[in-house]
Amino acid sequence: MTILCEPAARAGQLSPALGGEVRVVETLGEASRLLSTDPLESLVVVGSAMNLDEALTFTEALRFEQPSVGVVLLRDVVDVVVLTKALRSGVREVVARDDLASLVDACARSRALSAQVSVVPQPRFTEHRQGQVITVFAAKGGCGKTTLAVNLAAVLAAGGERSVCLVDLDLAFGDIGICLRAEPVRTIVHGLGMLGHVDAAGASSLLTNCRPGLSALLAPVEPGDAERVPAGLVTELLEVLPTMFDFVVVDTPSAFSEHVLAAMDASHHHVLLTTPDVPALKNLRVTLDMLDLLSYAHDIRSVVLNRSDAKVGLTMDDIDRVVRSDIRAHVPSSRDVPISVNKGNPIVLDQPKHPVSEAIARFAREHVLAEPAVVAAKSKRWFR
Ligand SMILES: Nc1ncnc2c1ncn2[C@@H]1O[C@H](COP(=O)(O)OP(=O)(O)OP(=O)(O)O)[C@@H](O)[C@H]1O
Ligand SMILES: [Mg+2]
Repeated sequence: MTILCEPAARAGQLSPALGGEVRVVETLGEASRLLSTDPLESLVVVGSAMNLDEALTFTEALRFEQPSVGVVLLRDVVDVVVLTKALRSGVREVVARDDLASLVDACARSRALSAQVSVVPQPRFTEHRQGQVITVFAAKGGCGKTTLAVNLAAVLAAGGERSVCLVDLDLAFGDIGICLRAEPVRTIVHGLGMLGHVDAAGASSLLTNCRPGLSALLAPVEPGDAERVPAGLVTELLEVLPTMFDFVVVDTPSAFSEHVLAAMDASHHHVLLTTPDVPALKNLRVTLDMLDLLSYAHDIRSVVLNRSDAKVGLTMDDIDRVVRSDIRAHVPSSRDVPISVNKGNPIVLDQPKHPVSEAIARFAREHVLAEPAVVAAKSKRWFR
């Protein structure tokens, strides 16, 4: 069902485009009353005759009280000012009054999002937390960053005691959505309109709820969208998300991009991955030297050796000589890892007793949960 908020004379032209049962109301107050009596309602189309500021206040209130209800706003003219204000308030889409085809599409997208939001209960961000940011990085591709980030986030969220947000900073090729079977209806690219004023309400409207206690900020899906995301948006989001979650785990691409550095700056832990092969070890060495050069503190670093049991002709001494620092976790190799990815269920949840799961859970227990968070060495970086 849909509520259409528009004077009856205009509503007649719009109702057929909305499909299904449409209840027409002439004021936003009437719309609020209908919503409070019908928990199954999922969409309000606010017509162009409604005052913009009142429509935005209505949407803002709804976002907290009934987050599964979407608002699609019709305007005579859609310009950047209207769009920015509307997206800030939580309006899902703004459509030109006469563009009925776009209205049909916007309503369909909003209903799909509402169906997803109502399946998993939304966390309520009423408390101000001081969460920790953990960035998982390796300069060589395919070392297991996404595998570790997803499983670390899942193990931290398991049991329901802690809230965790997984951030996919692999903007061009991110696959966290696939690993967790989460539909990328909202992604980081929808945050572009919030640049310069990201707040908890805005950030929460970008998130996908994946499991109880585990939300994700997914990477864009459209080709070309990755380049539209500025590093400044990452910085803002990583300031706000730790106020909403106990842990924010960031998956990264395998390059020292501006976005990765923004994440490193915001982090309480740098988890640096390698596998036991010469190219990955060489890239880890370069990474460690680079982090030293940028004056990041040593004690926020953890080196993790993935596929640690792979028989590739290197001894532990060979590896230690290159790494020159403590290896804090040895995660074995197992074909059950890609199998769990194909199932869309992280191995730590699918098989908690598996040696891979135990290694990741031990790392979380001993090096993430046990250690007091150290403030990242933000001020020490000598270039920005
Ligand atoms: N311990 C492991 N045992 C077996 N397979 C693994 C292990 N860790 C990762 N893999 C597999 O290796 C492949 C690469 O892992 P993953 O995608 O996590 O790496 P990545 O560093 O994120 O790669 P990219 O640089 O492409 O983002 C995946 O198919 C994953 O299932
Ligand atoms: Mg990856």
